[in-house]
Amino acid sequence: MKKVLVATDKPFAASAVEAIRSIVTESGYELALLEKYTTKQQLLDAVQDVNAIIIRSDIIDAEVLAAAKQLEIVVRAGAGYDNIDLAAATSHNVVAMNTPGQNSNAVAELALGMMVYMARNAFNGASGTELRGKKIGIHAYGNVGKYVATIAKGFGMEVYAFDPFVSEEAIKADGVTALKSVEDLYKTCQYISLHIPANDKTKKSIGFDLLNLMPKGAVLVNTARKEVIDEEGLIKIFELRPDFKYLSDIEPGNKSEIEAKYAGRYFFTPKKMGAQTSEANNNAGVAAARQIVAFFKSGDITYKVNK
Ligand code: 3PG
Repeated sequence: MKKVLVATDKPFAASAVEAIRSIVTESGYELALLEKYTTKQQLLDAVQDVNAIIIRSDIIDAEVLAAAKQLEIVVRAGAGYDNIDLAAATSHNVVAMNTPGQNSNAVAELALGMMVYMARNAFNGASGTELRGKKIGIHAYGNVGKYVATIAKGFGMEVYAFDPFVSEEAIKADGVTALKSVEDLYKTCQYISLHIPANDKTKKSIGFDLLNLMPKGAVLVNTARKEVIDEEGLIKIFELRPDFKYLSDIEPGNKSEIEAKYAGRYFFTPKKMGAQTSEANNNAGVAAARQIVAFFKSGDITYKVNK
């Protein structure tokens, strides 16, 4: 009998685990659960005899893939798959997939939620500002970016986007203004919401020069990955632009320096929580389980991300 492991350092909501369990067991497979593990060895032990793994931001590197001798498929229940060593997966003949779009609304709601929180001075009672009429620039117009655009329009914001991989027509069709360069986006918008993946081209790509183009009252919102930020450049913009604020769904590496010097100008979630809603957990977890069943039953590789 095929065995499916759910390995989540940051567990899904219980209802999502039960939904995954039903899909897996009703298809005739066995489900194993490894949650809140504290050592890599626990993961290495748990993967020994499994045919499929469902993960979140859990690291599936060459060592894990070598230990998982029966593994055929790993599904990242979420969008970003920078936590899977894709080349090692391919060399072990393992199919890697993601579940695009399934948790996007949750991430977008957090982006806008953090913006309101900062605009209202962390709800401390002091007079703040409104989002209405302000310009927001969506850096990468994928699934999350689209939800951010929809919600931002609801707030009455002017919405702009830059994405070299999405046509101007497709962006315009959503009532969003497509800009031709990343520099134009940063020059135009007081708020920038990041939705780029973390890869060799994007890591450390958001630094001082780009951020310094932003108009007065600049707010950078990062629900993407901390790796895309050039943290030295981030400190420089905090230092030279007293108007600059940074909201991030996960603490930056230089958090203590920012906390010590720039009180009131940042907010960081203690753990990545953009996708941490029961709805997102259910959507992504169920999609992952269904993709595994479809792969085992009919060889479906629709959401494969490795070559
Ligand atoms: C994603 O890439 O889907 C999000 O960053 C969510 O990650 P998480 O499942 O670890 O919360």
